[in-house]
Amino acid sequence: MDHFQPTDGVLHAEQVSLEKIAADVGTPVYVYSRATLERHAKIFREALSPLGDPLIAFAVKANPNLAVLKVLQRQGFGADVVSGGELMRALAAGMPPGKIVFSGVGKTDAELSLGLDKAIGQFNIESREEGRELAALAAARGEEAQACLRINPDVDAKTHAKISTGKAENKFGVPLTHAREAFAELAALDGMNLRGVAIHIGSQLGDLEPLETAFAKVGKLVDDLRSTGHTITHVDLGGGLGVPYRKGEILPSPAEYGELVARASKGWDVQLTFEPGRLIAGNAGVLLTRVVRVKRGGNGPPFLIVDAAMNDLARPALYGAWHDFDAVKPTGERMMANIVGPICETGDTFATDRDCDALAAGDLGVFRTAGAYGATMASSYNSRGFVAEVLVDGDKYAVVADRIDAGAIMDAERVPDWLE
Ligand code: LLP
Repeated sequence: MDHFQPTDGVLHAEQVSLEKIAADVGTPVYVYSRATLERHAKIFREALSPLGDPLIAFAVKANPNLAVLKVLQRQGFGADVVSGGELMRALAAGMPPGKIVFSGVGKTDAELSLGLDKAIGQFNIESREEGRELAALAAARGEEAQACLRINPDVDAKTHAKISTGKAENKFGVPLTHAREAFAELAALDGMNLRGVAIHIGSQLGDLEPLETAFAKVGKLVDDLRSTGHTITHVDLGGGLGVPYRKGEILPSPAEYGELVARASKGWDVQLTFEPGRLIAGNAGVLLTRVVRVKRGGNGPPFLIVDAAMNDLARPALYGAWHDFDAVKPTGERMMANIVGPICETGDTFATDRDCDALAAGDLGVFRTAGAYGATMASSYNSRGFVAEVLVDGDKYAVVADRIDAGAIMDAERVPDWLE
């Protein structure tokens, strides 16, 4: 459930009309709902309540907006970060360093050092090579890095190939088959407190079975490591739980996920960490857009040309992803449409042959479930700039990211003297 519902025939974010936001801030614009973020945070925490007090580290990549992070920080969340930039954002939002987990296969020395400078709670090491580098950096400072070894369990998460991360051929983690050896080597290094294991098998998971398989492999590994004398105090089970992108779509609930984790982790006796992203932010945001024009002709339905494009919301172009599209002020009439943006490539298509609310030039619509992997994946392709972001809270709202227009981007460029 989210807080983007109609009041008196007009779609609102909580108590604020999307017509008002469009009039005040312009379109396209991302609109987030604080109540929805908080609701999702509470539901997830509640689902994990039988597991004691796990660390819930929001996957910042899903929505790095500072105000969104602040809402989650106030819910007691930490952060899962994958770059120095995300680490700085988590800190700027007030996340305690101890609640920050640093994942990612390509952390540079500068990023590892930044994590040490800030005394973050956990590095998830993705390779032996990275582990050696981290240990050397920490030892040179006379410190110990707190770390888990990310393993690759070789499990098919049954999701889109581009967001599957736990198969042997994916670049993530140390293959389970080498995990014991790698753990023993890294745990013995000065500068390293290797205290557990981590996994993350993929995103938008619609089936719990692959998670169950992966968690069982983690449990077996924990037993094996302990039997060879290692002390295991932490397990990070990653994120990945999917969200409904279509009205009526049913996915595993957080409660079912919580039950699965409780079953799988029975007897582990560790501090658990979770890294949800989409589940928290996905349905807490919409991309509000205005119809530029309706172009008829051709063989199929008309082209509904909106002012948002693939540079603002890349998921349909990149993954063929579905986002529900609804009118802000529906008339009750329907239309068949190809919903497209203004960008000069055919990939800039949000939906083909879509049965949607009837819209005309100037009308407003929303792409739903755009709160995760929306604004954060934007580019300035076609020199379109970056859209604004708004956070609604009850009957008030604030612009939480300014629109960055094409001119401001151009200002960062220069023509060298020798070309003048
Ligand atoms: N932890 C790690 C190590 C991850 O790589 C990810 C996501 C997460 C947690 C959070 O996963 P979530 O709970 O959000 O599923 N851009 C794609 C999604 C990429 C996900 C990458 N990793 C999309 O728009 O579908």
